[in-house]
Amino acid sequence: MNRQQWGSRAGFILAAVGSAVGLGNIWRFPYVAYENGGGAFFIPYLFALLTAGIPILIMEFTIGHKYRGSAPLSFFRMSGKKAEWLGWWAVFVAFVISTYYAVIIAWAMRYTIFSFGQAWGEDTEGFLFTEFLQLDVAPGETGGIVWGIFIPLVLVWVITLGILVAGVKKGIEYANRIFIPTLVILFLIIVIRAVTLEGAALGLTAFFEPNFENIMDPSVWVAAYGHIFFSLSIAFAIMITYSSYLPKKSDITNNAFITGFANSGFELLAGIGVFAALGFMATQLEVPVSEVASAGVGLAFVVFPQIINQLPGLNGIFGALFFLSLTLAGLTSLMSITETYVAGLTEKLGISRNKAVLFGGGLAALISILFATQGGLFFLDAADYYINQFGVAAVGLVEVVMIAWILRKTGVLQNHANLTSDIHLGGWWKVCLGLITPIVLGYMMFGLITQNVLQQFDFDSGNYEGYSDEFALTMFLASAGAALVVGIIVSFIKWSRSTP
Ligand code: PHE
Ligand code: NA
Repeated sequence: MNRQQWGSRAGFILAAVGSAVGLGNIWRFPYVAYENGGGAFFIPYLFALLTAGIPILIMEFTIGHKYRGSAPLSFFRMSGKKAEWLGWWAVFVAFVISTYYAVIIAWAMRYTIFSFGQAWGEDTEGFLFTEFLQLDVAPGETGGIVWGIFIPLVLVWVITLGILVAGVKKGIEYANRIFIPTLVILFLIIVIRAVTLEGAALGLTAFFEPNFENIMDPSVWVAAYGHIFFSLSIAFAIMITYSSYLPKKSDITNNAFITGFANSGFELLAGIGVFAALGFMATQLEVPVSEVASAGVGLAFVVFPQIINQLPGLNGIFGALFFLSLTLAGLTSLMSITETYVAGLTEKLGISRNKAVLFGGGLAALISILFATQGGLFFLDAADYYINQFGVAAVGLVEVVMIAWILRKTGVLQNHANLTSDIHLGGWWKVCLGLITPIVLGYMMFGLITQNVLQQFDFDSGNYEGYSDEFALTMFLASAGAALVVGIIVSFIKWSRSTP
């Protein structure tokens, strides 16, 4: 069986950028930067991008390109069973993320339609939680299915799995060739509109104003590293999988720099657009920008609808453009994350691509229904929190320590990348991977463990969001813990004989 391949270099880059540019760029970055020093955040951010983001991207691109397999198969070919489990761990983290990421895209799809005529009314918060999400049960309980989420959710999976069935070149590459340029154009229209609104300058000042005191605070550096990992989709098995479809002669380091800078460029653009709009909102309400700035679900589904309500002129259209952008950015990321386990399953069991999409994607789709029920938001929020904190940072840390120190593969990878790349990797690359990144991530994990895990045994202190110990522990184990255990178990299954 011939391995699938990208049709062109641009196709691969668009797909990698499509994976990187996601909900994180639009609703996470602006707020993280604002909270962590505004203009001064760019120093730790750039440092994290250059010492961890791009070096790990280069590493993952090289692994996929050299070993030509899904993350588990690549690690297996690199060092056998000793390393294979790491690939599965990343794949199962990806699997868990895909189950709730799909649901947020479904919300965005529904909100695209809501935009025409501002179905959310004046009280956008009440609308979101009470009418749309129907959140009227305690954390950990589920009511019935919420059809307003379920129906777009089915659509999200049909589109995503349909694209994956069509293959790497005819499906993923083709979809990204359409979705990414469309996304950039839509987003440029939104940003231009936002910066020309009354009060935009106020928002931009709040966003860019440097607070240099923050730079001395270690938590700001941790935030920068955490964001870079999430934003570049590294340590999710994604970039290894995508680069395994590269043709033999491919410039790896250049591709990594382009992907990294394109993602950051989009983030910066989003920061400008979001804060210009927040400046407008603050001006309308005659409050400081800090009062309207918020992150995540609150920003996209509460504050933005308010902004859209206030816009002069064709506000319905602009609302629809915004939510359509979220939908497109999300879909291209969901494709990439689903491809990690589709590829893993195909190779492990020697089954066809269609079967892997049907079983792997189908299972993820079934599980995702949990998040489309009344009370689903609590599951979604907790899963997202634990998987991002523990799943991704932990996989990233173990990945660099294994490769740099235990398996000692940086030299081999360096030579491989240098064979086909313009920019040659030197000592700086090894120092970033072997020293700087493990130190920062190690420090980060230590803080997280003392903060969160130990709290589970200390019944006086609060859990994340004040959730009960049972719910917090269950969600921690189900989202972050299970991925590691299942990963190790699966690594004991034999590879299909049809996989060389
Ligand atoms: N890089 C994505 C973003 O910025 C994050 C992501 C991608 C998460 C794919 C999961 C899967 O939003
Ligand atoms: Na991103």
